[in-house]
Amino acid sequence: MFSVTCKSREETARVATALAPFLHAGDAMLLKGPLASGKTAFVQELVAALGSKAEVTSPTFTLAQFYPLPTGTFLHIDAYRLSSVAEFRDLALEDFVPESITAIEWGDIIEEDFPNALTINFEFVPDQDNWRKLTFSAAAERWQPVLLNLHV
Ligand SMILES: Nc1ncnc2c1ncn2[C@@H]1O[C@H](COP(=O)(O)OP(=O)(O)O)[C@@H](O)[C@H]1O
Ligand SMILES: [Mg+2]
Repeated sequence: MFSVTCKSREETARVATALAPFLHAGDAMLLKGPLASGKTAFVQELVAALGSKAEVTSPTFTLAQFYPLPTGTFLHIDAYRLSSVAEFRDLALEDFVPESITAIEWGDIIEEDFPNALTINFEFVPDQDNWRKLTFSAAAERWQPVLLNLHV
């Protein structure tokens, strides 16, 4: 587990940029936290750090969005409007996960399908409009060196 308080969006961008080189196809991230806590902002910075010039928007209504990267594909999922894991499985998005770097917002309902995910929890900091506390955690062995190396 690793926590960092980002006192501006630029600091959040720096964390995303630090994470980017560790990511490869098959990796999934569960982004948790309340509305406007910075989940989509983090994906925007991450996709940019991975070398894409695409304009990343919240996939709340499209459910999922693919962004081509120089080295593969980024899959951005917003599970907010999904009512069950069965509904998610029907979309067959999981077919693309092994070949993509995947980030999932509002993923609590589908978490069971991503046991190897890196979880990033976003929190507001009281009385500090532009501060966000990011906490990284993962059960899977795959992420332990990343958590150790994520110096910002
Ligand atoms: N430290 C920070 N880190 C990330 N975003 C921040 C920060 N401070 C302010 N913001 C702003 O907060 C908003 C977060 O919105 P968004 O990323 O859409 O949230 P979510 O996807 O969690 O609902 C953005 O407008 C972003 O610019
Ligand atoms: Mg969002």
